[in-house]
Order: sequence, then structure tokens, then C-alpha cells
Amino acid sequence: MIKIRKHLRRDIPCRVKWLSNPGVNKFIGDELGQKTTLMKEVAWFDNYQKSKNKKFFTICDNSKPIGFMGFSNISKVNKNADLFIAIGEDDYRGKGNGKIAMEWLIAYGFDELNLHKINLGVVKDNVGAVKLYRSLGFVTEGKMKDEIFHNGKYYDFLSMALFSKKK
Ligand SMILES: CC(C)(COP(=O)(O)OP(=O)(O)OC[C@H]1O[C@@H](n2cnc3c(N)ncnc32)[C@H](O)[C@@H]1OP(=O)(O)O)[C@@H](O)C(=O)NCCC(=O)NCCS
Repeated sequence: MIKIRKHLRRDIPCRVKWLSNPGVNKFIGDELGQKTTLMKEVAWFDNYQKSKNKKFFTICDNSKPIGFMGFSNISKVNKNADLFIAIGEDDYRGKGNGKIAMEWLIAYGFDELNLHKINLGVVKDNVGAVKLYRSLGFVTEGKMKDEIFHNGKYYDFLSMALFSKKK
């Protein structure tokens, strides 16, 4: 059963494992396919704890951490934020877990953070993710052509957004 809890310092080794997993990093980061390190993730977490505009969560199957997700660039003024999600454990992708987690995070964003708009960026070839986002109501606001270069190929990048139904 999917449970969502606070993202904790003890999740750092999982972050290293997940973000270095080709099943995850083939579609994320400034440079696709790049592995991370323990040092980088400790630095990320130190910065996260100080930051007031980020809110992250660990996705668990009961008590087993399987991925993480959250918001960065939360703007109280503009009432928007950038969403990120990764199901890090290979056995847990494509089984409906991402959708459950996303529904929870979207509700948190609109109801608890009082956001008007949730933004995300996704590589266009990440067909599973794009399909999931569309099914949740995200619309494509822009396409950056040839934004990413990886292994001799250019990839388009989509900017997608979901709006609160509250007026
Ligand atoms: C993208 C991601 C979060 C989706 O989570 P998931 O648990 O794998 O997806 P789900 O099983 O919940 O699928 C939800 C929907 O998306 C579709 N989908 C998911 N992966 C798919 C794939 N590879 N191909 C086609 N459709 C896919 C499913 O068919 C499902 O649609 P349905 O409800 O109509 O059946 C997850 O695959 C992941 O973490 N991927 C690696 C990192 C990543 O790409 N993160 C997103 C960066 S923008």
C-alpha cells in the first residue's frame, strides 16, 4: 500500500541509488544518464533543509521507500511551483504507484500550499510520464525543440502545467 511521508536525511542513500539508476536518470536532470554521488546528495539535502521554497516527500510501499517527489521554486506570490517525481525502485514503475503519488502531491499543492498552478518539465520522449501527466489534466504550455543532447541525439523538452479549479 502506497504511503507518503516527509523526505528525511536517512533517504539520502536511496536518493543516490535512485538518481543513479538508468531507469530513472535516462529521462531526468540537466544531463541525461548522469549518475549522482553521496556528496552531491548530502549537499542537496543540506540546502533543502535550509530552503523555504521546496517541499519533498518520500513515496513508500508500506515502510519501504520506493521513490520521492515534491515541489521546488514554490512561489507564494505567484502561487506556483515546479513538480518532480521519480519512482526509483524498478519493480514499482508501471504499476499505478506514480499515479497514486501524483494525485496525492497535486492535492497537497492545491489544498495545503494553496497553489494556483503546478508546472513541470519533461523530456518529450518520456512517453510514460507524458501520458501520466496528461491523464491528470496537465496541458503542454511550450515545447523547447532540441533542448537536450544525449548520446548523439537531440531531445525536445515539454513545459506542462496544471491549474487549480479554485477561483
Ligand atoms: C514517470 C513515473 C513517475 C510514472 O510512474 P509509474 O508508477 O511508472 O506510472 P503508473 O504505473 O502510475 O502509470 C500511470 C499511467 O501512465 C502510463 N504509463 C506509465 N509508464 C508508461 C510507459 N513507460 N509507457 C506507456 N505508458 C505508461 C500508464 O499506462 C498509466 O496510464 P493508465 O492509468 O491509463 O493505465 C515513473 O515511471 C518514473 O519515476 N520514471 C522514471 C523517472 C521519471 O521519468 N520521472 C519523471 C520526470 S519528468
